[in-house]
Amino acid sequence: MKTSLYFSFLVFICSMSFAQFDTNYDENKVPDFILPDPVTTFDGEKITTDTDWIEKRRPELFEFFENKVYGKVPGNLDSVSFRILEENENALDGKAKRKQVEVTLLKGKKSVRFVILIYLPKKSSSVPVFLGYNFFGNHTITTDPNVLISGAWAMNSSDLGIDEHQLTEKSRGLRAHRWAIDKIIEEGFGLATIYNGEIDPDKNDMTDGIHELFYKEGQETPQKNEWGSLSAWALGYSKALDYLEEDTDVDARRVIVFGHSRLGKTALWAGATDTRFAAVISNNSGCGGAALSKRRFGETINIINTSFPHWFCRNFKNYNNNEEALPIDQHQLLALIAPRPLYVASAQEDQWADPKGEFLSAYYASKVYGLFGKKGISEVKMPEIHQPIHNTLAYHIRAGKHDVTDYDWEQYIKWTREVLKINP
Ligand code: GCU
Repeated sequence: MKTSLYFSFLVFICSMSFAQFDTNYDENKVPDFILPDPVTTFDGEKITTDTDWIEKRRPELFEFFENKVYGKVPGNLDSVSFRILEENENALDGKAKRKQVEVTLLKGKKSVRFVILIYLPKKSSSVPVFLGYNFFGNHTITTDPNVLISGAWAMNSSDLGIDEHQLTEKSRGLRAHRWAIDKIIEEGFGLATIYNGEIDPDKNDMTDGIHELFYKEGQETPQKNEWGSLSAWALGYSKALDYLEEDTDVDARRVIVFGHSRLGKTALWAGATDTRFAAVISNNSGCGGAALSKRRFGETINIINTSFPHWFCRNFKNYNNNEEALPIDQHQLLALIAPRPLYVASAQEDQWADPKGEFLSAYYASKVYGLFGKKGISEVKMPEIHQPIHNTLAYHIRAGKHDVTDYDWEQYIKWTREVLKINP
């Protein structure tokens, strides 16, 4: 009773902040819809083998997501270079190595720079690494006083002590609860993180960040089928992987791309676009991430495109309040990651992100994993909370709100060990 009151309160708060939208949280009001079959081509051909998936179906789905959802990267960079800004063998009370690496992306005369903060277990070499963006700067993920503070634009936040869009000392360590660094290191993994705002500031302004590198003179916005911020951040993940491939302390064949919420949407798209990522983790990624759009439960395409017009490509707006016209749905984004391991995670109170839609998406993507002889989710019924399903395609729902918790990390570490065959 208490929980359901609390839940109603959360839903109320959520609906208040998006009051102009008619948000559905009632399972009985989910519309009837036909979910496109991942293994039937747009022309109606049935796909029955992994080879046909790779050669026929995957390319057409990929092209759709690229041109109609996230947007195409409009060209190639001229160069990508790396510089170690700082290194220490005795970080985190002597338990870890720390590196801060500057990556410079150059196109013509313009460039974008971002810094990867990396922690690695001290005594090992060639370790698997979780790579994930943070929302408010590398210095927020730990109290380590040596982590550099980014000068990039940041969203103001009273909780994090950010005003005038500048990151400061005040927010050091304030997001540490989302990053189980000690456990990650103890378990023999590395952690690499980047502030997403260094690649593209998270605001509806396409004249800044990496987009601008590719503009012709006078251009101020990408073409309709070209990238929004999610696609830009996904490219940042790939460029970080370019660095990790050069670092002999890292096993670049076992880099797991991870993200929460908008950055979970990003991790999924990065996993689809860059097959070098060994595994993908989507934490509470919701609408435009793992959740099925056609359910119109919680956040919808219209809401997301109105509140965050810069995240997707402009073509995606054609599906505002028009989900039935979409010839794809998000389970097919998940399928683009097959046969590589993929973890979709939900939180019970995160109804805005539609936990059931996230689960069903994983369930319906499982057919494609099956083509490769890999196990996905076999039951259409959602598991109870804290009953994780750890197959190649994995899923859990935990108690609590939209967040990343120690419980989530425990599952991710355990599962990664199994699917990437990492011995303790
Ligand atoms: C908002 C947005 C979500 C997003 C979330 C986040 O709630 O509507 O789509 O996932 O922010 O990134 O925290």
